[in-house]
Amino acid sequence: MKHPEKQPLLKAQNLHKAYRRGAHRVEVLQGASLCVHPGEFVAVMGQSGSGKSTLLHLLGTLDVPDKGEIYFQGHRVDGLNSRARDRLRNQSIGLVFQFYHLLPELTLLENVLCPLMIRYGYWAYRWRRRQLEQRARELLAQLGLDHRLHHRPQELSGGELQRGAIARALVTEPQLLLADEPTGNLDAQTGQEILRLLSCLHRQQGLTIVMVTHDPQVAAVADRVLQLAQGVLNPLDQKVLWRAAG
Ligand SMILES: Nc1ncnc2c1ncn2[C@@H]1O[C@H](COP(=O)(O)OP(=O)(O)O)[C@@H](O)[C@H]1O
Ligand SMILES: [Mg+2]
Repeated sequence: MKHPEKQPLLKAQNLHKAYRRGAHRVEVLQGASLCVHPGEFVAVMGQSGSGKSTLLHLLGTLDVPDKGEIYFQGHRVDGLNSRARDRLRNQSIGLVFQFYHLLPELTLLENVLCPLMIRYGYWAYRWRRRQLEQRARELLAQLGLDHRLHHRPQELSGGELQRGAIARALVTEPQLLLADEPTGNLDAQTGQEILRLLSCLHRQQGLTIVMVTHDPQVAAVADRVLQLAQGVLNPLDQKVLWRAAG
């Protein structure tokens, strides 16, 4: 065992999830389990439609499994009510998506401040505003976006949007970053830039990352790769991965 002394940060056991489509049930997850320790960078690889986003949404408490259990820092989280799940996400989990999901009417700085406004509420946020803005500005500067603070999303490139989304995910100092095809909408070079950034956050700051992707070259940047197929997760051999990555 790689981390015998440490409690897993995230543990999912026997997850099941199906969707109803008309009269049919689409079984997506059929007993998926995984265990992620603090400081790990884990990739989940699977074909389009294999259930990667479904899995990530469950792990990120955006949705609930039909069956199975999810533990975060040893506490069961899949059964929490939606308010408690919102709080858990706001305090401990950063999420990054393929299409960034920045709010179009806000500037980049305002987008990054959003999770902090939600965390503190209006008055407490105003009280701490200077200090929180400073934190957001420093993070954006660290991600090379200090010249884009007051730009709106439509004025930014794909790479800038994704770096902005990463800043928004990290401004709350989460223990876990979940990334759903974070390079899926970017050209190869910009995608590499984002992957380098994630690797750097993992290596230098010990950030724990779970990233899902269909692309073996993307998955190859992680320490450990799991394959999602037929609704279950299995370790993927590094040799198989490198062969697939070319
Ligand atoms: N809300 C939904 N309602 C019905 N079917 C869904 C829903 N979300 C996903 N699916 C279906 O579940 C399967 C897995 O989807 P998804 O988790 O998005 O896969 P991936 O991210 O690996 O491409 C697909 O067949 C998809 O069409
Ligand atoms: Mg998906």
